[in-house]
Amino acid sequence: MAKEKLIIFDTTMRDGEQSPGASMTKEEKLRIARQLERMRVDAIEAGFPAASDGDFDAVRAVAKAIKDSTVCGLARANENDVRRCGEAVKHAASPRVHTFIATSPIHMEKKLRMEPSQVVEQAVKAVRWARHYTDNIEFSPEDAGRSDIDFLCRIIEAVIKAGATTVNIPDTVGYTLPEQFGALIRQLRERVPNSHKVIWSVHCHNDLGLAVANSLAAVLNGARQVECTINGLGERAGNAALEEIVMAVRTRQDVFSCDTNIDTAQIVPASRLVANITGFPVQPNKAIVGANAFAHEAGIHQDGVIKSRDTYEIMRAEDVGWGASKLVLGKHSGRNAFRQRLQDLGIVLESEETLNAAFKRFKDLADKKHEIFDEDLHALISQESIEHVENEHYELVSLLAHSETGEEPYARVVVTEDGAEKQAEARGSGPVDASFKAIESIVASGAELLLYSVNSITTGTDAQGEVTVRLAKGGRIVNGQGADTDIVVASAKAYINALNKLHSKLDRLNPQV
Ligand code: KIV
Ligand code: ZN
Repeated sequence: MAKEKLIIFDTTMRDGEQSPGASMTKEEKLRIARQLERMRVDAIEAGFPAASDGDFDAVRAVAKAIKDSTVCGLARANENDVRRCGEAVKHAASPRVHTFIATSPIHMEKKLRMEPSQVVEQAVKAVRWARHYTDNIEFSPEDAGRSDIDFLCRIIEAVIKAGATTVNIPDTVGYTLPEQFGALIRQLRERVPNSHKVIWSVHCHNDLGLAVANSLAAVLNGARQVECTINGLGERAGNAALEEIVMAVRTRQDVFSCDTNIDTAQIVPASRLVANITGFPVQPNKAIVGANAFAHEAGIHQDGVIKSRDTYEIMRAEDVGWGASKLVLGKHSGRNAFRQRLQDLGIVLESEETLNAAFKRFKDLADKKHEIFDEDLHALISQESIEHVENEHYELVSLLAHSETGEEPYARVVVTEDGAEKQAEARGSGPVDASFKAIESIVASGAELLLYSVNSITTGTDAQGEVTVRLAKGGRIVNGQGADTDIVVASAKAYINALNKLHSKLDRLNPQV
């Protein structure tokens, strides 16, 4: 019997982006969107257009670029948000407006300060405003997991009458348990009189580590859309991880009466791209996309796998895109080969000038590192977009770092601040520490260093080091990234990148606050 379709709705660029420090530029969103399209994601939530002009532009750019997936934007249930969202997505081949309002007693009383009947009225109005732009409208009762089921039935029936075509049930605070959440979906489908007119969707957060389990319980009870993110990125503990949902459903077709349309071989490239762009590394033991997810270390396991793979393997590494990484280019590769490989990776550079700059950077890298892999190209392009933002407040001009056994490490840096060159030197416990101290003595940011992490992009001692630096100041948290074959230089670049983000003060509105 033909399986029903399970719609995969990716919200990496909206809910994922709400993680402190995970904000993405328009170009970065375009790269992620193209990878999601290549992976055959059904719907891409590209952002929250009312948050800022930058968010609006990014959603509009994604809407114009993507042809094979629905492009959606998020809007609170007010006229301005819905209008901004409708305007941002209206050029998409398949646009969707996703509007929401909180329905739990605690959110209605303490956050919205609205009576339940006002909330219903506002939700219905929002759906009607959205109809000016598209017939594809999604409605979410925020914090549904802690809402009263009678009230949920009432508001959902009303929004369906008003024209909503997808009803999404969020467990906003990750509070529910799988049995309970599955039962909620089943009861809503049974009790809402016009429930057959919509697709039922779920959106689970991972505060108790149950986002995937709750989503799958919902699917077993009739949900036919799952909202999820690459690597489980998202607010606080994150959202349900796309790769886990897709592979659980694919691997356990004996249990599920539906399947997704996802090209699973694109999962690992998507995971790497998102980790690379956001600077949120993937833990080694993360299911499906962690470096150890398919590594059989114990002798007894290895012996079993050699005799017959299915003794310990329930999925094949190559089916999710492991091992697809190729030696792609080298020192002698020309401009056309470089351009072609970028195109194959879904990276479109906007002008010949950017291509030339990226090619020059590629040649420099190939001089230091003879084998260039896809991961190197992703890092190179990310670095290119980081360093070529016009009018960056701080720029790293040069760095000298010295370390010697028995000597206190030393660094001298030259940085421009608003175009003016400044130099400083410092000593520290290591060359990175000394470099950061020297930079800080110039910029005097007073920011607190929350995280410093180094990851090798590929294997070998000539690999590029990819550094993430997380800084906090005045309630804001930003992540900076830097990549270089010299990890001290990569660290200084990451620090400067984070300082620029702090300085830009580009504060965006969070839809749920
Ligand atoms: O977690 C949540 O409730 C959301 C909604 C806006 C869908 O992100
Ligand atoms: Zn959410």
